[in-house]
Amino acid sequence: MSTNHRFSALVLAGLFSNTLACLQDLQPRMTAVEIENQVHARRAPSIATKTAIQNVRVFDGQGFTHPQSIIFANGHIVADTEDIETAVDGTGQFLIPGLIDAHVHVPDIVGLARITSYGVTTALNMACNAYTACNSLKHNNRTDVASLLSAGIAAVGNGSGNGALQPPPETLIYPDTDVTQLVSWVFGNGSDYYKIKASYGGVSQEQQNTIVSTTHDAFDGQTMTHASDIESYIEAVTSRTDGIQHIPDDGLIPSCTIAAIKRNKQFVTPTMSVFKYGYSNPAVLAFLGRTNSTNTTYAHVEENVRRLYKAGVPIVAGTDAVGPIAPGLDLPFGSTLHEELQLLNGVGVTPLDALRAATVESAKWHRLFDRGSISIGKRADLVLLKSNPLLNISNTQDIAKVWVGGVEIEDVITLTK
Ligand SMILES: *[C@@H]1O[C@H](CO)[C@@H](O)[C@H](O)[C@H]1NC(C)=O
Ligand SMILES: *[C@@H]1O[C@H](CO)[C@@H](O)[C@H](O)[C@H]1NC(C)=O
Ligand SMILES: *[C@@H]1O[C@H](CO)[C@@H](O)[C@H](O)[C@H]1NC(C)=O
Ligand SMILES: *[C@@H]1O[C@H](CO)[C@@H](O)[C@H](O)[C@H]1NC(C)=O
Ligand SMILES: *[C@@H]1O[C@H](CO)[C@@H](O)[C@H](O)[C@H]1NC(C)=O
Ligand SMILES: *[C@@H]1O[C@H](CO)[C@@H](O)[C@H](O)[C@H]1NC(C)=O
Repeated sequence: MSTNHRFSALVLAGLFSNTLACLQDLQPRMTAVEIENQVHARRAPSIATKTAIQNVRVFDGQGFTHPQSIIFANGHIVADTEDIETAVDGTGQFLIPGLIDAHVHVPDIVGLARITSYGVTTALNMACNAYTACNSLKHNNRTDVASLLSAGIAAVGNGSGNGALQPPPETLIYPDTDVTQLVSWVFGNGSDYYKIKASYGGVSQEQQNTIVSTTHDAFDGQTMTHASDIESYIEAVTSRTDGIQHIPDDGLIPSCTIAAIKRNKQFVTPTMSVFKYGYSNPAVLAFLGRTNSTNTTYAHVEENVRRLYKAGVPIVAGTDAVGPIAPGLDLPFGSTLHEELQLLNGVGVTPLDALRAATVESAKWHRLFDRGSISIGKRADLVLLKSNPLLNISNTQDIAKVWVGGVEIEDVITLTK
């Protein structure tokens, strides 16, 4: 397992303020060579052919169209109907864009193949502590796995709590650290986002502000800020970061803060799945050494998401899935994204908005303009469903077929509804 695993295990740990456990010692690291070996060990992918999915109802961002044909060739959706090589009968079925997990920690090709088999065709890794390995994983040359984008080494303050999210010690941020230099390193090393950890004793407000403005002004890039308590949320909002990751579980977000998120055109990736997992699994709580001495509850998680949604704050689907990290500790890839949509629906997000949170909205807020909807020119990242997800969001699990960049995935997993 890689530093991503180590890192994300600690994201999980970071949710609880009385954490004594340190998962990082348990994490073997994945190297670039190991990733290349995994690439070569997998069987050859299917050959992409010019394909027509016929007589299928298509998600247009607001609902499903009348039955029509969708054609793709060379990885993209096309208009031209000549020389179809493969015809798929979509009668009675529903075509949606490939799903995006906007906060995940996939460490290797095996994890990437697994998440793809659940119809997740884009994975945004919100951490990377080893640039060589992350870059091998991103540029893996496989045509049959989800695309991966990645944040770099996160901005973590030297006084940041219990070691949660701790990157290599030499990269910690001190009160006098020149953070503008760090921004150029993160993007210079091939990262797609700069991840900031807001927390008690963490990166100062002023440093967060500088990281965000430098990322915006000098790199036209985006920052993603981890914040899982009220105080950190307010810092993240104040910094004008692009995406606020997680949701406070220690109280209710003040309404003026919610209004500011909206006014600032920020978005939120609540990752309800990781909280649900943490709060419903006694083994995890025990492992993390959680006590009752804090104000943290899962009810706060739910109520905060409910309030953000009601206020019209853009909500994006992400899971914080890490895969198996230790005996009895597993937040699996793929299935969790479907669970996230159900958890969002459970606090009042409509099936339509839940589906948009993993497609159209996620693509828009992460500037992934080549995907997230089904139209001419977009990537042929597609999921064919046997039942209508707008009638019941758990129908996203009722998968018939998955294509990533026009390549059909052979080992599609259908979850029991
Ligand atoms: C992908 O292909 C490039 C060019 O052939 C190669 O340099 C790189 O090592 C390959 N990546 C992996 C993960 O095998
Ligand atoms: C963080 O760094 C500052 C400045 O070097 C130092 O005063 C402070 O004690 C450090 N905090 C921790 C928890 O190490
Ligand atoms: C990559 O990051 C390291 C520190 O982690 C830094 O020393 C190096 O200069 C960076 N490379 C680029 C091209 O920015
Ligand atoms: C605990 O949460 C409640 C909301 O459920 C909030 O009113 C209260 O201020 C919080 N207490 C602390 C100490 O943060
Ligand atoms: C926390 O409180 C609950 C109910 O109030 C109790 O069942 C549980 O044993 C407590 N856990 C700890 C670690 O004190
Ligand atoms: C959606 O389907 C699930 C699984 O079949 C079921 O438990 C749930 O009650 C359904 N929800 C609605 C709103 O029909």
